[in-house]
Amino acid sequence: MAYVNMKQMLEKARKERYAVGAFNIVNYLTAQAVIDAAEELNSPLILQTSASTVKQIGVKELADMLIPMAKRAKIPVAIHLDHCTDIELVKKCIDAGWSSVMIDASKLPLEENIKQTKEVKEYAEGKDVTVEGELGAIVGVEDDIVVEEGEEALASVEKSKIYLEATNIDAFAPAIGTAHGLYKGEPRIDFDRFTEIEKLSSCPLVIHGGTGLAADVFKKLIALGGAKINISTAIKIAYCGGMNEYTVQRPAENNPLKLDKYVSDAVKRIAKEHIELFGSVNRA
Ligand code: 13P
Repeated sequence: MAYVNMKQMLEKARKERYAVGAFNIVNYLTAQAVIDAAEELNSPLILQTSASTVKQIGVKELADMLIPMAKRAKIPVAIHLDHCTDIELVKKCIDAGWSSVMIDASKLPLEENIKQTKEVKEYAEGKDVTVEGELGAIVGVEDDIVVEEGEEALASVEKSKIYLEATNIDAFAPAIGTAHGLYKGEPRIDFDRFTEIEKLSSCPLVIHGGTGLAADVFKKLIALGGAKINISTAIKIAYCGGMNEYTVQRPAENNPLKLDKYVSDAVKRIAKEHIELFGSVNRA
């Protein structure tokens, strides 16, 4: 249908109160599985790549694989670089054809975060590329970024206002108490803070740490305006768990095509469950 950036996709989601799933893919199999899931449900999709995935596969190699897949899809697809702390890598991905990038300078003081985010936003200008930024620190491990418990800092409402006005970004991820990876206990999400930031934000908000949030939490955040929800760990579990399950049950089979089909079905199932929860079915 169309290879797009996140702008219209997320603005529409924000207005109509549903969210677009951003699934972290690691290779061809996972990318095609989430595209299949979104196509079957006629949903828009964000194919998300971590900086580690980009480094492992290669910028050009990954772009050459993903962009034609996005163009072939029957639904609108954006390709988004997740949590990148390295401005040079962000720029390389923009040059290679990513339609969207996240500069994560959230560990730096506000002024430095603003400076780096602005640099990326200016670089993306005129290239039809959307930019996501983050404020505060989201607990857990995402890629090479580790935020220990107790080290978290929720995004302050005042600082969010300053950051948004200074950077003019297209999507904003304020830390509100969600965490990357599996939740150890009940997540303590600051819905009031989310509401206040959403009201003052000129751009749609992003929820990180989607894996393991309860259905009612997703529903509440979406009703409050959350327009993009990131899912990574659940995809990794479906992929590795599916592989493990299949090979343990059939130790002597050695049939990669059947193994891939089994794993791909597991990833697709997880993506479909989330797309349904996010309310983006038939919104393509
Ligand atoms: P999870 O791994 O908790 O799903 O978080 C994904 C994420 O926020 C990626 O940026």
